[in-house]
Amino acid sequence: MNYFFSEFEEAVKNLFSDYVDKRIIPMRKELEDKHEFPHGLFKEMAKQDFFRIMVPEEYGGMSDSQMQLILGIEELSRGDAGIGVSFAVDAIATKGLILYGSKEQKEKYLPGIADGNIITAFSLSEPGAGSDAAALKTRAVKKGDKYVLNGVKQFITNGEVADIVMVIAVTDPDKGHKGHTAFIVEKGTNGFSTGKREDKMGIRSSVTNELLFDDCEVPEENIVGEIGQGFYIAMGLLDRSRIGIGAQALGIAQAALDEATQYSKTREQFAQPIHSFQAVGHMLADMATQIEASRLLVYQAARLVDAGEKELTKISAMSKLFPSDMAMKVTTDAVQIFGGYGYMKEYPVERLMRDAKVTQIYEGTNQIQRNIIVDRLIKGK
Ligand code: CAA
Repeated sequence: MNYFFSEFEEAVKNLFSDYVDKRIIPMRKELEDKHEFPHGLFKEMAKQDFFRIMVPEEYGGMSDSQMQLILGIEELSRGDAGIGVSFAVDAIATKGLILYGSKEQKEKYLPGIADGNIITAFSLSEPGAGSDAAALKTRAVKKGDKYVLNGVKQFITNGEVADIVMVIAVTDPDKGHKGHTAFIVEKGTNGFSTGKREDKMGIRSSVTNELLFDDCEVPEENIVGEIGQGFYIAMGLLDRSRIGIGAQALGIAQAALDEATQYSKTREQFAQPIHSFQAVGHMLADMATQIEASRLLVYQAARLVDAGEKELTKISAMSKLFPSDMAMKVTTDAVQIFGGYGYMKEYPVERLMRDAKVTQIYEGTNQIQRNIIVDRLIKGK
């Protein structure tokens, strides 16, 4: 299929794709079983310049185009969705610095992110603030030229490995969502620690943690954007990053289709390869069609970001909703095509089904995405 990529986009896609085929796919079982962050692979990915696609050239990157980023996330997720999400989340706080950071913050952190020496996390969710992102309790209280943070963040991808975390905290509890502010907290800051690592159903090569803030003093210059802008920054970043979850879902679904197609050619029953039974052949045809439709939606959303479109909320919600529901369906069908073998851990499709599930949940559940879409629809946006 011709997606009319530029020469550079084509090169980025091929670079990621070759790496995934050579390094990640052969290791995917080990990555799943270990349930550890793959530091070694991240170092290799840094050597391949993968992190430079998140950062503008002036800070040591290769431009921060959304299209390149989602091509990278899609390919990585085809190999291993845990690596895909660790990479995608690294791009969220990075984007926060690019869009809202001061010149000093950009100079301090972006070159290290581009080199792959600084890993980032984005910390919004709390035990009592999941879908209701405005219900934050983590407090940041001004004390001289510092802010003192107290609270607990939950389900933070890259939490224990991040060198810097973008934290959204309440600076003025009387102002609701207008009283939230974004901070950069560096690893090793007094009063900042990592809580438990979650034991997840899927994406097991990524780490997901609680983050604990106990009288954690953060210098005032670590505020990102303006005081009171934190909720808007979070929403603006999610408008971009949800497209990345759509890309992650695409990668997972493509992997399931590749496995199911191959299996249907080699598995014989009633003296025929199983794809020749219309029931199986039509499933494969539907899977391929749904993936293609999702891909066009995700790529269009990415193109809109790169074209400077201001109204991204609806298309970004759609580009997360549709591909993630599609990935759940496609991976479930892949398990069905594998029959009894599909249910066994020896084959990769049950893992893909478990990995797909989370794409319907994180970065805003698909119920929240539908709320967002209908809200924009009614407002005529
Ligand atoms: N961009 C800019 N501003 C926005 C916005 C957007 N996309 N969405 C809302 N706003 C603004 C509104 O215009 C409004 O502004 P004013 O008050 O100035 O008029 C303000 O924000 C409040 O808007 P709402 O009343 O719509 O806000 P709400 O409290 O009803 O919540 C919500 C809206 C969409 C449900 C939001 O809470 C939400 O996105 N929830 C899901 C949370 C989520 O996605 N979490 C993901 C965590 S990160 C993660 O999962 C990463 C990972 O590890 C993989």
